[in-house]
Amino acid sequence: MSIRKHFVFIVFSVCVYGSLQLIPLPDYIHPCSELSDECFTKATMDAIPGIVKGIPEAGIPSLDPLYLEKNISMTLPGNLKMTFHNAKLVGLSTCIPDKVSSRRKKRTFVFDMHCNFTVSGQYSLLGRLLLFNLDTDGQAKIKIYNQRIRLEVVERVVLNKNGEGHYKINSYKYKADYGTDLKLNLTNLIRGNPAISAQVLQVLNADSQTLAKDFGGPILDYAIDYAMNVTQKFFDAYTYDQISYVPLTEDFFEKEQE
Ligand SMILES: *[C@@H]1O[C@H](CO)[C@@H](O)[C@H](O)[C@H]1NC(C)=O
Ligand SMILES: *[C@@H]1O[C@H](CO)[C@@H](O)[C@H](O)[C@H]1NC(C)=O
Ligand SMILES: *[C@@H]1O[C@H](CO)[C@@H](O)[C@H](O)[C@H]1NC(C)=O
Ligand SMILES: *[C@@H]1O[C@H](CO)[C@@H](O)[C@H](O)[C@H]1NC(C)=O
Repeated sequence: MSIRKHFVFIVFSVCVYGSLQLIPLPDYIHPCSELSDECFTKATMDAIPGIVKGIPEAGIPSLDPLYLEKNISMTLPGNLKMTFHNAKLVGLSTCIPDKVSSRRKKRTFVFDMHCNFTVSGQYSLLGRLLLFNLDTDGQAKIKIYNQRIRLEVVERVVLNKNGEGHYKINSYKYKADYGTDLKLNLTNLIRGNPAISAQVLQVLNADSQTLAKDFGGPILDYAIDYAMNVTQKFFDAYTYDQISYVPLTEDFFEKEQE
């Protein structure tokens, strides 16, 4: 039986039994009926503003702001240990897809995009920076401009026991280009000395590319992992037939192991 027939059969069953019901697809999701970059890029562009607001009926939380539920720690040059806590990331809604392509044979989608991010929250810092031994904490604000990201997502389609196909993310990886502009603001960097704090910040900000990599990396790791979890939720909520009009070929899907 083809997927399409399964689908018709399920819709029929729903009418008869009224038990299985598909969640209606939001109107800003525009499925592609061809595998062109043009369609995927446009569909991604159309989908981002709506998806980042969250889709409550699909159990999808808002992504902007994104509250970082874990402490994010990083080690900066000079063995400086920095931790962010109670932080939030604003900006996933600003992401602009430059190109989205499907590499069907490799079951891979490639997203090239750029985004503006602001991270704010509390920080603590321990270690040596320039001439200072630091053991301090305060408020942090980091602005990252035009962060370029290439995200590759490998996925397959799994048939559940109702015969509905759903995408499953197998793995993902990303590369970020840290040639971007970044501005870091930390309050209370040198305890009780705002003037020197401001100077040290200025020195730090002078090498914004190193900063972008050291700070941006761990934060992007978190944000992208979170976004992938949300994407999987989206795929669990909506069937392949709802979100794609490209017919499935046999090699693309697998039966779910029970
Ligand atoms: C996060 O960091 C704060 C400040 O350093 C600390 O009080 C808190 O216990 C940490 N939370 C976790 C889960 O590690
Ligand atoms: C990021 O912000 C800059 C400066 O405000 C703006 O020129 C640019 O268009 C923004 N980029 C995105 C992806 O929103
Ligand atoms: C850093 O943030 C503080 C507090 O919000 C503010 O008073 C200060 O002007 C900011 N510094 C820079 C360089 O933006
Ligand atoms: C994503 O989901 C995995 C598995 O449930 C979980 O371990 C991980 O912490 C989640 N990532 C984020 C950033 O919430």
